Amino acid sequence: MAISADRIRELHKYEIRILLILERLMRRYRWVPFDIIKKTLGLSESEVNYRLGRLMGWGFVRFDTVPYEGYSLIFQGYDALALISLTKKSIIQALGCMIGEGKEAVIYEGLGLSPLALKFHHVGQRSFQSARVTRDYIPEEGNCPWLLASRLSAEREYEALRTLHPDVSVPLPVDINRHTVVMEFIPGATLNRCSLEDPRDVLLEIIENVGKAYELGVIHSDLSEYNVMHDGFRCYLIDWPQWVSTDHTNAEELLTRDLENITRYFSRRYRVEIPFIEAYQMVTG
Ligand SMILES: Nc1ncnc2c1ncn2[C@@H]1O[C@H](COP(=O)(O)OP(=O)(O)O)[C@@H](O)[C@H]1O
Ligand SMILES: [Mg+2]
Repeated sequence: MAISADRIRELHKYEIRILLILERLMRRYRWVPFDIIKKTLGLSESEVNYRLGRLMGWGFVRFDTVPYEGYSLIFQGYDALALISLTKKSIIQALGCMIGEGKEAVIYEGLGLSPLALKFHHVGQRSFQSARVTRDYIPEEGNCPWLLASRLSAEREYEALRTLHPDVSVPLPVDINRHTVVMEFIPGATLNRCSLEDPRDVLLEIIENVGKAYELGVIHSDLSEYNVMHDGFRCYLIDWPQWVSTDHTNAEELLTRDLENITRYFSRRYRVEIPFIEAYQMVTG
């Protein structure tokens, strides 16, 4: 389901409080029992029922009966909380269209002081939230693995952007809230959707940026034509949550894979041949 800014604007203050209560209590409960929500809110049973009904109807909250009756926050509700906080802080004024949807994130355009990209990390959505897995799954850390995993993934990506910008060509990091990274909007497309006029220069530019990241101690670890954008002038390396440090045990292997992926792509699509080993030497100096 798409994130609707109108829906979020329509949320009643009690509904926002319920979302916040669920967020907090889900550290202790996998499903928060009705009575606890009611007690924490201090409202009548009918009011709480009504508010929960609306939140469920909009797909912000889910009700489960197994293994016991209780309510849980789902991604849409978590997205709403992040958007509400970012709006309160005046980081964003408006939410635009969805511009990307991957396995573990959805990306929206947003407007703040300048055009923004909002990346909502949804880690484990498919695995943790599918009914069967959710019900049998007993997480080791906390009661809500996807909530934690998504937040950590966002934090990791934000950390990389903060470390790399502006030495490496990456989107400017603007802010982070919960599982949501706010960054500069890049008015371009990923390489798989571009037809480059000077592919050799672009490949050299990518390798140079991989080298600068390496100097700063960072290896992307998922580099491909899908994670490099081009705006007609220069390229940007995006999608950093899986980065590793250059002293990671598998650093060499991951850097090799990154460079093989990208040199192979340019060879296949543009017949630009920069041997992997040359690229590797350029990066590691
Ligand atoms: N800063 C950005 N500006 C503009 N578009 C972006 C930006 N970041 C991501 N996108 C778009 O969203 C898509 C997915 O983003 P990405 O970070 O690669 O996440 P994932 O691959 O995990 O879904 C990208 O392919 C790109 O089209
Ligand atoms: Mg990607």
